[in-house]
Amino acid sequence: MASSPSYLSDLFSLDGRTALVTGGSSGIGRAVAGALARAGARVVVVARGEEQLTATVAELAADGCRAAWVSGDLGSREGVRAVAEEAAGVFGEPDILVNCAGINLRPPMGELDEEVWDATLAVNLEAPFLLGQRFGPGMAGRGFGRIIHISSQQAHRAFVHSGAYGVSKGALESLARSQAEAWSPYGVTCNTLVPGFVMTPLNARLSSDRGRVSALAARTMAGRNGLAEDFEGAAVFLASRASGYVTGQSIHVDGGFSVH
Ligand SMILES: NC(=O)c1ccc[n+]([C@@H]2O[C@H](COP(=O)([O-])OP(=O)(O)OC[C@H]3O[C@@H](n4cnc5c(N)ncnc54)[C@H](OP(=O)(O)O)[C@@H]3O)[C@@H](O)[C@H]2O)c1
Repeated sequence: MASSPSYLSDLFSLDGRTALVTGGSSGIGRAVAGALARAGARVVVVARGEEQLTATVAELAADGCRAAWVSGDLGSREGVRAVAEEAAGVFGEPDILVNCAGINLRPPMGELDEEVWDATLAVNLEAPFLLGQRFGPGMAGRGFGRIIHISSQQAHRAFVHSGAYGVSKGALESLARSQAEAWSPYGVTCNTLVPGFVMTPLNARLSSDRGRVSALAARTMAGRNGLAEDFEGAAVFLASRASGYVTGQSIHVDGGFSVH
C-alpha cells in the first residue's frame, strides 16, 4: 500500500472528539492539551488560575484550535462536581479525559500531617476517581472513551519525600487498572503516563539546583531531563483510535529513568 496522509489521520486524528484536560494550564497538562487540540479535538482545560487558563486557550485559538477553559478547584468533591458539569456544558460530554492536575507538597514523612495528606489525595487521586465515575459510564454507553492519568516515577520508588504524593500516584495507577477492567469491554481504554523528572513549574525549586538537575539527567538513558512536550506524542496515541487495544497500562515517558 502506498503511503498516504489519510492512513496516519485515520489512526491518530482526534477530529470530532471532545477532551477535558485537568491541569491543562501549565507544564505537562498544557503540552498535552495543546497536542490533543492540534490533533483535532475540542479541548476544555481545567485549573484554578484564570490568567494561565486564558493564556493557554488564547495560544490554541491563535493556532486555529477549538479550546475553552473552566476555572475550578479539584481539591474538594463539590469543586470537582461543579467543574465536571461546567466543562461538559462547553462542547458536550468528553470522549477523552486527561487527569493531569497534581500537587506535590513534600514535607518530610515525620512532619506529614493530615491536612497535607487530605489535600494531596483529594487533587491527585480523588478528583481523577470522581471524574472517572462521572464520565466513564457515559463513554462506555457511547462505545468509545479514553481515560489518561498522569502518575509519577514516585508511584514506583521513594524520591525526595514521596510521602503522600507517592501514595497518591501509586493508587492512581491502580485506579487506571480498575477502570480498565470495568470499561474496556465497551471501548473505553484507561491508561497512565508515568513521567520521570520533568522541568516544569511543579519542580521550580529542584530545577534551580544545577547540580541536582544534571545528576538527575545522568540517571536517564537519554541523558537529559524531561520536557513537557515529551508527553505530546504519547498523549495523542493514547487518546486516538490507534491505542484501542492498549488498556490498564502504565507507560513510562522518562528517557529510560525507570530502567537505568
Ligand atoms: N514535573 C515533574 O517532574 C513531574 C514528575 C512526575 C509526575 N508529574 C505529574 O504531572 C502532572 C503535571 O505536573 P506539572 O509538572 O506539569 O505541574 P504544574 O506545571 O505545576 O501544573 C499543575 C497543574 O495542575 C493545576 N492544579 C493544581 N492544583 C489544582 C487544583 N486544586 N484544582 C485544579 N487544578 C489544579 C495547576 O493549575 P492551578 O495551580 O492554576 O490550579 C496546573 O495547571 C502532575 O500530576 C504531577 O504530579 C510531574
